[in-house]
Amino acid sequence: MIKEVEKKDLKLIKELEDAFSFILNNVVESLNNNPFTHYIVYIINSKIVGYINYDLIYDRAEICNFNVLENYQNKGIGTKLLQYVIDNLNNKVDNITLEVKIDNKAVNLYKKFGFKTVAKRNNYYNGTDGLLMERKMMNMKDIYVLGIESSCDETSFSIVKNGLVEIATVISSQIDIHKDYGGVVPEIASRNHVKNVTFVLDECLKKANMKMDDIDMIAVSYGPGLIGSLLVGLETAKTLSWLYNKPLIPVNHIKGHIYANNLVKKMEFPLLALVISGGHTELIYMEKDYSFKKLGSTLDDAVGECFDKVGKIIGVPYPAGPMVDEMAHQGRCTYKLPIPLNDNSYNFSFSGLKSAVINLVHNEKVRKNEINKEDLAASFQNVVVDVLAKKTLKAFDELNIKNFVMAGGVSANRGIRERFELICKSRGINYTFPEIKYCTDNAAMIAAAGYFAYKNGEIADFTLNAVSNLDIG
Ligand code: KG4
Ligand code: ZN
Repeated sequence: MIKEVEKKDLKLIKELEDAFSFILNNVVESLNNNPFTHYIVYIINSKIVGYINYDLIYDRAEICNFNVLENYQNKGIGTKLLQYVIDNLNNKVDNITLEVKIDNKAVNLYKKFGFKTVAKRNNYYNGTDGLLMERKMMNMKDIYVLGIESSCDETSFSIVKNGLVEIATVISSQIDIHKDYGGVVPEIASRNHVKNVTFVLDECLKKANMKMDDIDMIAVSYGPGLIGSLLVGLETAKTLSWLYNKPLIPVNHIKGHIYANNLVKKMEFPLLALVISGGHTELIYMEKDYSFKKLGSTLDDAVGECFDKVGKIIGVPYPAGPMVDEMAHQGRCTYKLPIPLNDNSYNFSFSGLKSAVINLVHNEKVRKNEINKEDLAASFQNVVVDVLAKKTLKAFDELNIKNFVMAGGVSANRGIRERFELICKSRGINYTFPEIKYCTDNAAMIAAAGYFAYKNGEIADFTLNAVSNLDIG
């Protein structure tokens, strides 16, 4: 009989420790302290004669110990144990790895089961070489992530499959409520999130035709953003995680914006992400999935903030970005504006550009000259595109970039898209822009990022708190 040892089965644990006393010491402690560890035993006439111990770490497994008592060897017991473990791990992991002495006869058994040597380790076992072996598995299980986003004024839930395929998304925007104030009022935003969460969740599940039981894990945006707003999404995520016993995955909102691109096309690495949103302007280098290195960022205003402020000066309601973009397309670059932070760094600065627009409008007014708003919008947008392009090209020159992506609300901008399309084509760099509807805040991007955060081992407990100034790190 083959059986998995459970934490509470103290009798079986004792028997296992006694049978293999020469290698095993404290199985109870190991089961209690390591939630990833598993012991499978082979029992003949109530006696344990063999066992396998493996660690199941997210989407991969590692065989740590494998032993059959000497008198019971060559009877096919090892084969049956290994078969059991492989069957058990099928559709659960991408691969199984192990380390073994080169002269161990188990090497042949592993080979029979499709394990391949991936590395040889000289003198690994006190004078004997070791082999690192791996068996690739068919991991067919689909992972459904429920994403939650509430960092600013959008309450959103989304279900995404395997981090790449959007199943259903619902976004409830409060733009109309905040419009009258010329910006988001934090207190009003969090109150409206509280009102919205349950409805938006229900609608999302309905749209996906799924129940909470069909969900594998819950990913939540826990920063950066407005603290009161973030807390509503976070508490919702914790409650669902506790109630339905699903892992809680913490997602940085900005990482979410980047992963919105994965819903269009799977990102390739090394990758450069230009994050341009209402609160952030950053160049991020990613060597591989879910690894982020900030090359530079804005020293003052974010580019979206600058669009909104310039919009206000020329009489466009909040959020002004889309309309300024539209006006820019109707105008010509007739006004001369300074190029902000035109230096050799990866940093940006936009407050000087905003001040230059204010001064220009003021001076023209004093001179009683009519401002051509479309031309001013075109001139402003052109300077923004120039400076974003300049710093991005510097990164293309200095780093080996395979894929370029944009992220955040401002990546909806037509002028910016047109210019970057040209740049990437001329440099032979693959590029992806998020779908327009997923440029601004949404939970699909959080669920998409959540899947890769999970694969990266990022799982939170209930002490997770919202961090309003969370850095991408
Ligand atoms: O990413 P997002 O929703 O906010 C943050 O997470 O910070 O982006 C919102 C920002 C606003 O400042 C809005 O004016 C800007 O994105 N935006 C645009 C465009 N569409 C939205 N800016 C320029 N051109 C656009 N087409
Ligand atoms: Zn955002």
